[in-house]
Amino acid sequence: MTKSAKLTIGEKVIDLPIHSPTLGPDVLDIRKLYAEADVFTYDPGFTSTAACESTITYIDGDKGELLYRGYPIEQLAERSHYLEVCYLLLYGELPNAAQAADFEYRITRHTMLHEQIHYFFRGFRRDSHPMATMVGVVGAMSAFYHDSLDINDPWQREVAAIRMIAKLPTIAAMAYKYSIGQPFNYPQNHLDYAGNFLHMCFAVPAESYTVNPVLAKAMDRIMMLHADHEQNASTSTVRLAGSSGANPFACIAAGIACLWGPAHGGANQACLEMLREIGTVDRIPEYIKRAKDKDDPFRLMGFGHRVYKNFDPRAKVMKESADEVLGLLGIENNPTLQVAKELERIALEDDYFVSKKLYPNVDFYSGIILDAMGFPTSMFTPIFAISRTVGWISQWKEMIGDPTQKIGRPRQLYKGEKTRDYVDLRHR
Ligand code: CMC
Repeated sequence: MTKSAKLTIGEKVIDLPIHSPTLGPDVLDIRKLYAEADVFTYDPGFTSTAACESTITYIDGDKGELLYRGYPIEQLAERSHYLEVCYLLLYGELPNAAQAADFEYRITRHTMLHEQIHYFFRGFRRDSHPMATMVGVVGAMSAFYHDSLDINDPWQREVAAIRMIAKLPTIAAMAYKYSIGQPFNYPQNHLDYAGNFLHMCFAVPAESYTVNPVLAKAMDRIMMLHADHEQNASTSTVRLAGSSGANPFACIAAGIACLWGPAHGGANQACLEMLREIGTVDRIPEYIKRAKDKDDPFRLMGFGHRVYKNFDPRAKVMKESADEVLGLLGIENNPTLQVAKELERIALEDDYFVSKKLYPNVDFYSGIILDAMGFPTSMFTPIFAISRTVGWISQWKEMIGDPTQKIGRPRQLYKGEKTRDYVDLRHR
């Protein structure tokens, strides 16, 4: 039997259908509400609003569970690898051997950029943040790949998806090399996805560079853990931009712009900068005090999450990787790490953080690993952007293929002036 809810407004009783999802709480369908009752709903920040139907990722914030197409993130992090996860997110199932080989072949054959894009980089100031460069260059891909702009052609959508997953690491690495005045490295197709990215970032023409397999594995894991995260701010931005029919490169550029903010993907950079600013363990209480002070805008970066109210399952896996990488590099005792460990211990015991369910999130540990690998903080969010591209593209493709899809157009609670007459300048 279909479930429904009754909403009473004055004399009127409105029947609202209730949908039962595969997992998670029931969803009240209010699509006919305005037509039938002449009212809107009000939900800033979409804390109680589902904006789409999706089959890609599921989060249970109370249990601290994250599933990609039904598979728990812990199992994928342990047994899978980034490109397999990309296939899973894009096509819905794990690939068999032939499908995996074909997919990896297609990705590796698209890693190079149109040569003219190299000149485009030179238009940026050397001290540009790599995220600024990425927003520009990814948006500019619409000007270079005209044969994958028609969103109504499934083949062109597919080519755009492959191009973006393949080229984002190249673009991020070039943004980095440009910012430090080193020559660009072309992609090396004999390396795997994560190893190739490390090579493009750290190799220089004067020396040979061998990718360390432990670091490549850690990078692959960072990418897997960030690959998708349901209807978060940047994914919703991609969907909203795409709902108007904008081309896929423009939509992903919009997603990158949204990710940049410190409340979202920019938190990994902000978190490491905060740890450095704290500097020594004895200064932690001062920062904890500031984080609790309602009149101080300061927040402990890397703590808290809109959906996870138990723990962030990605943080658990990331913490293991951090121990592995720091052990390998022999820097378990660097001051930043000591501050991080002590901050984590205190925050997990402190009443304020415990009662508000503020746990360390994925960005708390990813920054520590990336720092140990030798990345500057400005590259942390670009690495998040590379990893999330597959999630954005999968969600964008799902939206385009959804027959109920409409242009996104939220309503508002208007609190401005009522209608009034224009007053000539001399009478104001
Ligand atoms: N430090 C101190 N207090 C906090 C923090 C924090 N990091 N996060 C939330 N609070 C407090 C907040 O002040 C509020 O208190 P009160 O109820 O007394 O007004 C309460 O906890 C609830 O916070 P909220 O801002 O209403 O929660 P939200 O769901 O809107 O925000 C968040 C979620 C992630 C934006 C927020 O926790 C935050 O700003 N964290 C720091 C930034 C960060 O690490 N972001 C990365 C998120 S994970 C990566 C990703 O997926 O993007």
